[in-house]
Amino acid sequence: MATILDRLELTPVTKLFVVDAPLVARHAQPGQFVIVRVNDHGERVPISLTDFDVAAGTVTLVIQEVGKTSGLLCALEPGEQLLDLVGPLGCPAPLPEEGDVVLVGGGFGAGAVYPIARELRRRGVHVTSVVGARTAELLILQELLAGESDAYEPCTDDGSLGFHGFTAARLDELLAGGAAFTHCFAVGPMPMMRAVAGTTRPYGLATFVSLDPIMLDGTGMCGACRISVGGETKFACVDGPFFDAHLVDFDEAVVRSKMYVDEERRALEPTVAGAEA
Ligand code: FES
Repeated sequence: MATILDRLELTPVTKLFVVDAPLVARHAQPGQFVIVRVNDHGERVPISLTDFDVAAGTVTLVIQEVGKTSGLLCALEPGEQLLDLVGPLGCPAPLPEEGDVVLVGGGFGAGAVYPIARELRRRGVHVTSVVGARTAELLILQELLAGESDAYEPCTDDGSLGFHGFTAARLDELLAGGAAFTHCFAVGPMPMMRAVAGTTRPYGLATFVSLDPIMLDGTGMCGACRISVGGETKFACVDGPFFDAHLVDFDEAVVRSKMYVDEERRALEPTVAGAEA
C-alpha cells in the first residue's frame, strides 16, 4: 500500500500525485519508473517518476486519464491508497556529464522530462527544453521545467502559446538554425517520439526515447514489454525505458501498444445495468 499525500489538478485530465514511498525515493534516479495497481482487479500501469524526495520519503507521479485504470488512479484523493507501488524500475536515463542537451516533452511526457532537466543542470550541462501540448492550458509543469532549463521552448498545436506547431517542427527549426546539441531525450506519445527520431536522424544527433509499452511484472520475466531495437529483442522494463531512437522499430512498437485497445474500449463501455440506470 502507498498513501497519496497530495494531489494537484494540472489539467482537466492530468493529475499530479505526491505519494508516500520512502524506499522508492531513496533509490530513484532520473528516467526510472514505477508500476502501480489501483486495486485487485486493476491492470499494472507503468508511470515515469516526475520527482523523488529522499528527505520527505515521497515520489511524485503525473498521470493522464486515458483509460479505465488511469481514470481510477486520477480519481484518488489525498489519504487514499494505491494497492501497490513497485520501483524504482528500469535503468536511469543515459545522461551525459557534459554537453548541450535538448529535451523534448509531449503532453504529460513533460513530467518525465523534469527530473532529467534537473539532473543535467546539476551536472553543468546546458539544457534546452522543448515541450508541447494542444493548447496553452494543457502545458504542464511550465514553471518547474523552465526553472531547470537554460532555454524553455513551449509549443502549442493551436498557437495559443509559444511556437505554433509540434515539438518536432520546433526542434527542426532549432537544428536548421545551427543549434549545436550533443544529445536529445524525448518523452511523450509514440507519434511524437517517432517524429523526433526522424527529425534528428539527418543531423546525426544522438537521440533517446522513453518507451512505455504494456507491462506486467516489470522484471523482464513475462515478455509483455518486448520491443525491437537495432534488430535485437529488448524488454523495456529492464533494458529501458530509454533506447536509441534511431534504432527503435516504431512500426512494431505501435502495433504492440494497440494490442488491448478493444479490451480497453469494452472496459469503458457501460454495463447493461449501468446503461439502464
Ligand atoms: Fe514483463 Fe517487461 S513487463 S518483461
